[in-house]
Amino acid sequence: MARYSSQFPDPVVLVTVATPQKRNVMTVGWASPVSFDPPILMVSIAPARVTHDLILEAGEFGVSILGEGQKELSTLAGTLHGDSHDKLGMPQFTTIQGERLAVPLIAGARACFECRLVEHHSIGDHTVFYGEVLRMTVDESVSPLVLFNGVYYALGEERGRYP
Ligand SMILES: Cc1cc2nc3c(=O)[nH]c(=O)nc-3n(C[C@H](O)[C@H](O)[C@H](O)COP(=O)(O)O)c2cc1C
Repeated sequence: MARYSSQFPDPVVLVTVATPQKRNVMTVGWASPVSFDPPILMVSIAPARVTHDLILEAGEFGVSILGEGQKELSTLAGTLHGDSHDKLGMPQFTTIQGERLAVPLIAGARACFECRLVEHHSIGDHTVFYGEVLRMTVDESVSPLVLFNGVYYALGEERGRYP
């Protein structure tokens, strides 16, 4: 089925990981919270991504929800591959070291999460990684970037509150 997934508005998330040998970052649109207590989120990553095996090796990963002004980081992290580029070493990326885990996080993001890998499942052509959130930081002054049908957006006008 062609592009069924493009009908879902996606957050624009950078997944970061570091092993003793290598660090990397990739863009993920398929990311969601899945449990309140304990706090667990998921990211869906194709096995061909360099990040995929690095997460399995590290047993932990970082998630940074990009702000509306960070589209360029999404393009870089989402088009270059970690086997040929040290993406996090590029001048466009500024990282913050995690405090609970050895994960880099992206400066200027709306929110950052330090996640311990608790489970992963191969499903279709992707692997779903579940991470328990051990620490989070939020910058309320940053509005999140959104991707819909191949186009990046900033959030629009408010239409009412969730009850
Ligand atoms: C906006 C956007 C969203 C993406 N979402 C995903 C995703 O949810 N899962 C995935 O496996 N790849 C996704 N990608 C593709 C990867 O980010 C891309 O293949 C990246 O270069 C992988 O980097 P790596 O090989 O260094 O891990 C997305 C790319 C972009 C630009």
